[in-house]
Amino acid sequence: MLIDTYGRVATDLRVSLTDRCNLRCTYCMPEEGLQWLAKPDLLTDDEIVRLIDIAVTSLGIEEVRFTGGEPLLRPGLVGIVERVAALEPRPQMSLTTNGIGLKRTATALKAAGLDRVNVSLDTLRPDVFKTLTRRDRHKDVIEGLEAARDADLTPVKVNSVLMPGLNEDEAPDLLAWAVEHDYELRFIEQMPLDAQHGWKRDGMITAGDILASLRTRFELTEEGSEKRGSAPAERWIVNGGPHRVGVIASVTRPFCSACDRTRLTADGQVRTCLFAREETDLRAALRSGAPDEEIARIWKLAMWGKKAGAGLDDPSFVQPDRPMSAIGG
Ligand code: 5AD
Ligand code: SF4
Repeated sequence: MLIDTYGRVATDLRVSLTDRCNLRCTYCMPEEGLQWLAKPDLLTDDEIVRLIDIAVTSLGIEEVRFTGGEPLLRPGLVGIVERVAALEPRPQMSLTTNGIGLKRTATALKAAGLDRVNVSLDTLRPDVFKTLTRRDRHKDVIEGLEAARDADLTPVKVNSVLMPGLNEDEAPDLLAWAVEHDYELRFIEQMPLDAQHGWKRDGMITAGDILASLRTRFELTEEGSEKRGSAPAERWIVNGGPHRVGVIASVTRPFCSACDRTRLTADGQVRTCLFAREETDLRAALRSGAPDEEIARIWKLAMWGKKAGAGLDDPSFVQPDRPMSAIGG
């Protein structure tokens, strides 16, 4: 098992498949993009599958989420999903994507064994989308979402980040739209993970703001905190049900004490937290011919060093060197 000194057990593995992206969301990347990882530094498909195999057979991982950057940009994605689906025990598999390219790949991903997707979409207005992501691709995302639902990659979850002055007034519209199309909407508080280090606690839209805004148009009933478990989204029942809306209050209501995650970057580093300042290199061990037991041992040791919490709301918080796109969401 992957266990830390606070008794938390990691059963959820997030695997970043690439640090590249075809959008440039302002809360994530600068306009010109970033210095991408070099090809030889990236784990190969075989190396990724081997690490996931070790994680599910020896370390108790039950759920695997593929992230990026934008994971659909990884050429071998469908093959990786297929091979992970064949592992024993077979983990649950999901994909966090910006949705561009899903129209083309949803059916193949489902056939390969993917269970569901989380699609990032912050606005229903194509012009705001273009300002926020610096690309004119709103229509592709909407079509990608429809393709995911048609391919039964359900429940299709939509992640939205609200940014002051851009889409901060859109929460009720987004929820009405999600209910209409049967997507499960979750708002994520903006976290200090942008490459430009431009995040300010003062300006951010909080979970409290989001709920107040939603309540101008919807009746929300708390689902009950016992259901939250280790899932970071606190959920509310919308107008008596059956639809729900989630809010991930990473900054104002951190859930570190219930965290069940471990992360693997595209270049083979284990991170115990999005906000960790340390990483543990599994790639070097892999490439030096270490047996599975040795890799499992290094991973367990990394987990044992997991810190109690990220302390985002603490003035002494220092942002990690890697941006979100190079860690995996
Ligand atoms: N704060 C909050 N959410 C973010 N995401 C990317 N960067 C940030 C940030 N700084 C979101 C993406 C995606 C998910 C993986 O994380 O929009 O939905
Ligand atoms: Fe790409 Fe996601 Fe970053 Fe937007 S937030 S630039 S979609 S990695």
